[in-house]
Amino acid sequence: MISIALSKGRILDETLPLLEAAGIVASENPDTSRKLIITTSRAGVRLIIVRATDVPTYVQYGAADLGIAGSDILVEHGGIGLYQPLDLKIARCRLMVAVRKGFDYERAVRQGARLRVATKYLQAAREHFAAKGVHVDLIKLYGSMELAPLTGLADAIVDLVSTGNTLKANALVAAEEIAQISARLIVNQAAYKLKRSAVQPLLDALTRAVK
Ligand code: PRP
Repeated sequence: MISIALSKGRILDETLPLLEAAGIVASENPDTSRKLIITTSRAGVRLIIVRATDVPTYVQYGAADLGIAGSDILVEHGGIGLYQPLDLKIARCRLMVAVRKGFDYERAVRQGARLRVATKYLQAAREHFAAKGVHVDLIKLYGSMELAPLTGLADAIVDLVSTGNTLKANALVAAEEIAQISARLIVNQAAYKLKRSAVQPLLDALTRAVK
């Protein structure tokens, strides 16, 4: 049996058509079903539905053989025990620094100001600001990051931007791009070796589907 870990939400809408193109059709729609284990049209392949941030963990420990996770999530996880053989080129967005309209981010950086930055992407933010030599106090949040600059919790946020509508609706502006984000296929390193005969055809089918 091969288990593929997926998460609901943003990535799933684009993942299901890609899996279908690779010959893996879910027996139920994970978005509407309450089941967390879903069989597929492909014998010996099932989907397990977990929180987006938990996908790498399931695959790292071999509770799932494969998984689909955003590169943002993978940076935070660290990638231990995972192969990342394929960029699925779906669920694309950008990880950005954003600030309140009117806040001069460039100037603050130039002046060497110590910035308070709220984010759920601590690792990516830490790496980014360290590489720029900007001193930051990072504040971990779990969602609604846009509120932080509006309430005085932080000077800036690090968050995903797709259409830009959420920033706009909250009078924030993007100040800097940290990374281009897309969904990646991840594979448990042991499963890749020990279940190669089952895993490789799935990798090949997904590679063809991406093309
Ligand atoms: C992301 C992100 C922003 C929003 C940006 O949240 O945190 O809030 O999408 O999208 P936009 O630029 O198209 O407006 P997501 O929907 O992934 O949910 P989350 O807040 O639970 O992470």
